[in-house]
Amino acid sequence: GTTGITELLLSRIRDVADYPEPGVVFKDITPLLADPAAFAALTDALAGVAAETGATKVVGLEARGFILGAPVALRAGLGFIPVRKAGKLPGATLGQAYDLEYGSAEIEVHAEDLDADDRVLVVDDVLATGGTAEASLQLIRRAGARVAGLAVLMELGFLGGRARLEPALAGAPLKAL
Ligand code: PRP
Repeated sequence: GTTGITELLLSRIRDVADYPEPGVVFKDITPLLADPAAFAALTDALAGVAAETGATKVVGLEARGFILGAPVALRAGLGFIPVRKAGKLPGATLGQAYDLEYGSAEIEVHAEDLDADDRVLVVDDVLATGGTAEASLQLIRRAGARVAGLAVLMELGFLGGRARLEPALAGAPLKAL
């Protein structure tokens, strides 16, 4: 049941204190990835979100969103589209800049990978401030596609990402396992 999978997933996420800098508790998913039962349960749950939301494509956000999103896309029978940090995709791209605590970053997608017929589910490991996810949703809409939803393994609720994402989601669901 639901409680079982939540406990399984939580038991395979390692808290690493003071990484990557003092005062931050890093959520390390590598124990989950190394456990095939937990990885399969996560993949099935996220593929279920893809089915529920009527997604036609899965976008994964570099880098851990690739590890989770690719098997979800396969499991759901959908194409996988990588959203990468700027400068990594060789073809014609659309880019979206977003603010970091200090400075800014930019993500890109191949323009030809999304069009008006698509309903896109974005998959990532962690929703923190929501900056990365927000930029990805803006990118998807600018590419002309619709947003089916955002699905993450975990949400760090104290950082307020869910509220920040409300305008960009525009009613599409945010599912945090
Ligand atoms: C992490 C995480 C999310 C994002 C969440 O990725 O995997 O993509 O940050 O943070 P936010 O909600 O505050 O935007 P990171 O930028 O560390 O990239 P990486 O997986 O390539 O290391």
